[in-house]
Amino acid sequence: TRAALAIDLGGTELRAAVVEAMGRVAAFAATPTDALGGPQAVIAQMEALIGQVRAETPGASIVGLGIGAPGPLDPDAGVVVDAPTLQGWRDVPLAAILSERLGVQVKLENDANAAALGEWRFGAGQGTQSMVFITVSTGLGGGVIVDGHLLHGRRGLAGEIGHMTISERPERCACGGVGCWEAFASGTALAREAARLVASGDAPEMARLAGGRPVTGRHVAEAAQKGDVPALKLLDDEARWLGIGLTNLLHLYSPERLILGGGVGSLLPLMHETIKQTIRERAMSAFRDVPVVAAALGRNAGLVGAASLVLKGAA
Ligand code: BGC
Ligand code: NA
Ligand code: ZN
Repeated sequence: TRAALAIDLGGTELRAAVVEAMGRVAAFAATPTDALGGPQAVIAQMEALIGQVRAETPGASIVGLGIGAPGPLDPDAGVVVDAPTLQGWRDVPLAAILSERLGVQVKLENDANAAALGEWRFGAGQGTQSMVFITVSTGLGGGVIVDGHLLHGRRGLAGEIGHMTISERPERCACGGVGCWEAFASGTALAREAARLVASGDAPEMARLAGGRPVTGRHVAEAAQKGDVPALKLLDDEARWLGIGLTNLLHLYSPERLILGGGVGSLLPLMHETIKQTIRERAMSAFRDVPVVAAALGRNAGLVGAASLVLKGAA
């Protein structure tokens, strides 16, 4: 069977797969990203994971490798320009390096753009002409599809929605800027706010879950799912910040649907009401009824979308 290799490079998790046409995942492997190890270490991890999934699918005839990676990155050049959620990734010619080591053609795309393509072709965005996919995880990213095309812009950098400037409050963003949407509405921001609460003694359940280690977005999620009030309050703040940025996206692109993915995005059921309320308060009336829905492909969205880059040719 004709199939593509796929890699989804996340700030926390590195995933690889063999994906067949129509988006079927034939083999999958994942490992925590060695984010502090720099490009050398992570590229070695990629080769190991690809070896694993390749071994599980001896019958697959591989047409190439598609990679989704945090940006900003240049998809035509195949270069990660500067990824704030990873250490030491500056001007890394990732496509060329992996193409040489694995002996296949390689296409690189922003992780959120790849996931947007996956959701558009095979998931929650099927049938739309215009949609925005938003991934809320370590970072905050997006893929914007308007009038049947993924927006790329100069050097392919369009859709860096996490760094839209959104507040005068000088919260520091991983990109070095202040006031970015990502600094208020990412998993990193959620963990930062949780740590503040824990430090002030106002979040005993999250402190217990963290057990002396740094509190993470996952601890907040776990506590919130048990009905912990401070955790639910944190998610409510998160939802309000999400609603503010989503309102901007509605006015910019007039999508038929906003699709939320990523680790924090998967908590949408706990945040949906506040997100919708924020949109109702802030959006022009013509935009207020646009559905905000959960990604359908979960952690596979980026892999399936990256694979589709080589299975179908460039988007
Ligand atoms: C990066 C985006 C990426 C997002 C999710 C952001 O910090 O700037 O390119 O899509 O994180 O990984
Ligand atoms: Na993007
Ligand atoms: Zn930023």
